[in-house]
Amino acid sequence: MSRKPFIGGNWKLNGSKKFIAEMSKVFNEAELDSEKVDVCIAPPFVYLETLRNALRKDWIVSAQNCTEKPKGAFTAEISVGMLQDIGIDWVILGHSERRHIYKESHELIGEKTKKALENGMSVIFCIGETREEREKNLTNQVLIEQLAPIKDIPDWSNIVIAYEPVWAIGTGLVATPAQAEEAHLFLRGWFSENISTDVSEKLRIIYGGSVKPQNSTELIKKPNVDGFLVGGASLQPGFVEIVKNVI
Ligand code: G3H
Repeated sequence: MSRKPFIGGNWKLNGSKKFIAEMSKVFNEAELDSEKVDVCIAPPFVYLETLRNALRKDWIVSAQNCTEKPKGAFTAEISVGMLQDIGIDWVILGHSERRHIYKESHELIGEKTKKALENGMSVIFCIGETREEREKNLTNQVLIEQLAPIKDIPDWSNIVIAYEPVWAIGTGLVATPAQAEEAHLFLRGWFSENISTDVSEKLRIIYGGSVKPQNSTELIKKPNVDGFLVGGASLQPGFVEIVKNVI
């Protein structure tokens, strides 16, 4: 089963109008066949429209979060409807920085994911274990717990799973290709057993955590690694090399 690679660039709390102009120029000039790879950039909320207008139309622009609430007295929240109103139909949910720094629970992330999917958005759903959990041999258990709240979603065609071990995020300690493949294979098995073999075969499972142009070539050779969610390196022109390396 061949799955179309997916490369996301999560800009986190970085960027400016000047930066968007510079990076869009680099990205727009890159010779890339978007029939062969889906590419997505997730800037901070306030720059979604600026980036959408500047960036090539064959690349996806995604939000980094949203609320499960439709509207009302929820200061500083951004709804699914608001994102769609400005032409954004992808959102990252469950990023480890939301889980660990902002204490978003598995249940809340599940609610957000369902709200987004039910309303026609596509979701990059992030999961991953901490170093301590890995050292205690709890990796698979943690992944199962993080997936549990979305186990009953009816349609998996608009979701990408990002396996992002917390110990690898922003640390330079990239998972080895074998470690990434082991987790992705476990996840594919879980989807096969708990959802369906069809979903398991079609679902894109991408890896995130200190991905750079140099290490992306070996990681992508693994049969169950379908692409990457890139943080720091997506702020550099070399992000284009990561995209090229998966084609
Ligand atoms: O969303 C991206 C991940 O948090 C990875 O970040 O590439 O800077 O380690 P990083």
